[in-house]
Amino acid sequence: MNPIYPDLKNKHVLITGGSNGIGEALTRAFAEQTAEVTILDRDYQKGLTIAKECEKYPCKINVYDLDLTDTKTLVETLKQIKKDKPPVNIIINNAGYDPRYELLEMSEKDWNDLFQLNVVHYFITCRELLESAIAAGGGSIIMTSSHLVWIGKPDLIAYNATKAAIIGMVRSLAEAVGKHNIRVNAVAPGWIMTERQLKQWVTPEAKQKTIAELQCLAIELTPQELVGTYLFLASDSSKAITRQTIVVDAGYAHS
Ligand SMILES: NC(=O)c1ccc[n+]([C@@H]2O[C@H](COP(=O)([O-])OP(=O)(O)OC[C@H]3O[C@@H](n4cnc5c(N)ncnc54)[C@H](O)[C@@H]3O)[C@@H](O)[C@H]2O)c1
Repeated sequence: MNPIYPDLKNKHVLITGGSNGIGEALTRAFAEQTAEVTILDRDYQKGLTIAKECEKYPCKINVYDLDLTDTKTLVETLKQIKKDKPPVNIIINNAGYDPRYELLEMSEKDWNDLFQLNVVHYFITCRELLESAIAAGGGSIIMTSSHLVWIGKPDLIAYNATKAAIIGMVRSLAEAVGKHNIRVNAVAPGWIMTERQLKQWVTPEAKQKTIAELQCLAIELTPQELVGTYLFLASDSSKAITRQTIVVDAGYAHS
């Protein structure tokens, strides 16, 4: 059960990667708040399924099918959204990928492609939507980083660089847009047992070790454990909080 924030009713929330994993949980949670949710995701069918399932709430869900690494299409889509939909009040830059490499055995293209998804689309989305958020009187920007920025993992050097870049972006952007009543924060999740993580990376041994030995709290983290933090950062209940990164990892990382 999520708390209901009355000020989120009818707010327009844009979520990148809103069709699966953490983004899916956020889409459903903001729908429950009776917000208008716009999903940008290449998994269009799943987005439509979520929209259908959320018809039980008096919310509106718009689904846009695109590759977020294609900047031209992303810019055109955001222009279309600005033309057709109400101003976006809450931007959640969330889509990302976490490929593993032995040492630095990756090409320059692999490195750049990862930045294109994990960093560049965050910047483009903010750039394109800031003006309308300012005109609408303010808003909240939330970016998904990772607790790995503090932990560091030898096979995730590029990924960690992207997630640290996000924290840097949050700190400077918050300074720049505070005067327009726009708050900018990051959420740094721990190891979240999404469908993709379970399929791709999680082994029973690694999961057991994480929960029993590495986290302070012996709980399994699912997207649901993150939802409350995003709702709080989106709502007026956090109106004095900006420029922050909130680590939600059951006490694994030591900052
Ligand atoms: N799951 C974790 O353990 C974990 C931990 C820390 C941080 N994160 C971060 O959280 C964010 C969400 O991760 P997740 O685990 O929910 O991922 P996920 O793979 O479960 O979901 C990602 C969503 O983004 C979409 N997407 C990916 N690339 C896209 C592209 N190029 N164009 C359009 N859509 C695209 C996918 O279709 C999917 O719907 C990422 O930034 C990730 O780095 C995840």
